[in-house]
Amino acid sequence: MPKKNTIQRVTLIPGDGIGPEVSTAAVKVIDAAGANLEWEEVEAGVGVVQKYGKPLPDHVIETIKKNKVALKGPLTTIVGKGFASVNVELRKTLDLYANLRPVRNLPGIASRFGDVDLVVVRENTEDLYAGIEHRIAPGVTQSLKIITGKASKRIVEFAFDYAVKHRRKKVTAVHKANIMKISDGLFLETAKKVANAYPKIKYQEVIVDNLCMQLVMRPQQYDVLVLTNLYGDIVSDLCAGLVGGLGLVPGANIGDKYAVFEAVHGSAPDIAGKGIANPLAILLSGILMLEHIGQMRTAQRIRQAIHQVTQQGKVLTPDLGGKAKTMDMVEAIIAEMK
Ligand code: NAI
Repeated sequence: MPKKNTIQRVTLIPGDGIGPEVSTAAVKVIDAAGANLEWEEVEAGVGVVQKYGKPLPDHVIETIKKNKVALKGPLTTIVGKGFASVNVELRKTLDLYANLRPVRNLPGIASRFGDVDLVVVRENTEDLYAGIEHRIAPGVTQSLKIITGKASKRIVEFAFDYAVKHRRKKVTAVHKANIMKISDGLFLETAKKVANAYPKIKYQEVIVDNLCMQLVMRPQQYDVLVLTNLYGDIVSDLCAGLVGGLGLVPGANIGDKYAVFEAVHGSAPDIAGKGIANPLAILLSGILMLEHIGQMRTAQRIRQAIHQVTQQGKVLTPDLGGKAKTMDMVEAIIAEMK
């Protein structure tokens, strides 16, 4: 955390698709709120492959290492061919092992449930996301699911520490150890051991398919969920759907040295360039970033303004049932802060 009154430099990666639209929006609001920071903008993603020969140029990693904190737009990963995911590479290179995704209703936003308040803690560095795949013979393939005791321990500890710090009451470990007895079994065994060190926090286990059913029926029963990488990825999107969609859910990739903040959503090629992307997910990620660097009052100021705008329901992007453009929403939020 920077010393008081020193300006924090933050790496800004606009990203692909709707990334530049929503990150410009977030920067405008964060600057208007008077945040004590300076942006260092660098490009990454499919758009820079021609220029740098790869989607994640070395200098991007270097600036994050220098600044320690980044706000990032979504990056496209081509399905079935081409470069490995830039997001996965970034998380692995910087050892951003914890992916934190708070899922909460926003005032005034219609959704299936009105009282969801849970946090998804997803392991970010291993599992099937290790991307170790083989074509064994024509028509026969293999993907390796890597689960280690070390990574399981630190992610479950992260979840419990988060629960203590944020006054949460329960941590639920999610698994499929009935089938993957060795890999998910190790995750679960590790979770149980870690839980013993936190007697004040309730500990619970649930099989991932049951969790999905429970979440769509009664999400209020969950508080902090801790999951391995792939389950965490899928369940995060499910949880976004519970509160009104991907345009609303922020995220943070956190390691011991660095933190990269980004929305849960992707580059949304279907709406890119139309100026209608919802800026709230990346803006809420920016709020998490401000809290991370200790600028709590600025974070709170923006959060309140967002709540005013969603509550009034007059200036909303199409995904929320409105007709507003991304920048209309930005202006409405800034107006609430004046
Ligand atoms: P997506 O999240 O980009 O889009 C899914 C649906 O949600 C689309 O209909 C889209 O229009 C809508 N949506 C997403 N964000 C929105 C917003 N802010 N406002 C309004 N509507 C929004 O997921 P998809 O289509 O599976 O992935 C597209 C690309 O994004 C892929 O290349 C994928 O690999 C990448 N991706 C990148 C992520 C990252 O950089 N962290 C995360 C997820 C996907």
